[in-house]
Amino acid sequence: MQLLLDSANFEEARTCAEWGWVSGITTNPTILAKSGKSTEKTLVKLKKIISGPIFYQLTQETIEEMVKEAKLAADILNKQLVLKIPATEVGFQATAILSKKYTCAVTSIFSPAQALVAHAAGAKYALYYHNRAKRLMKNGKHLAGELVLALKRTDTTVIAASLKSPDELVQARNAGVPILTTTFEILKQMMRHDLSDKAVADFILTGTGLLDK
Ligand code: G3P
Repeated sequence: MQLLLDSANFEEARTCAEWGWVSGITTNPTILAKSGKSTEKTLVKLKKIISGPIFYQLTQETIEEMVKEAKLAADILNKQLVLKIPATEVGFQATAILSKKYTCAVTSIFSPAQALVAHAAGAKYALYYHNRAKRLMKNGKHLAGELVLALKRTDTTVIAASLKSPDELVQARNAGVPILTTTFEILKQMMRHDLSDKAVADFILTGTGLLDK
């Protein structure tokens, strides 16, 4: 199981790197626009902070331009690059070409059928939007499990994004999703429980340890 940060904020990325339990970072065009710097500068800086995979989403709409953009991303991120490619007809075609050379994640998947195409096109990851599926689809809460089942015994792994609470990460995980990406705020929330804080406070008040005189 892996947890990823869904952000391009340098401070957040730095803190996650220090925590040591966040495996990598996912971005998208909206997230990158928020960084206030050029996409290239942002990716260069993120690479200095994060040692794991850095997901970069292609923005171009033709195969030719997508191939060019993928090369630029690879020049910056090298082996850390995971290309996110939208689940569209052109996106699947691009995946079939680019997966021969780069690690690819098809993103915005909303059906098991799309997950099968992602696999057939050579994608290493199939990324779906958990909260959006729950809000916008009649049986959206079952999507996670359906994707996991569809990709069982393949080498394509499901990633859950659009996770809006610690509980939603647990829902996705309990449906069998092995990689979860979410915001810094939610990652922080995942570490906390009022009763843990209380238990620790009680030990500090009443206990002794090796460093106590
Ligand atoms: O980064 C993609 C995804 O996590 C965003 O989902 O529903 O918050 O727009 P949403």
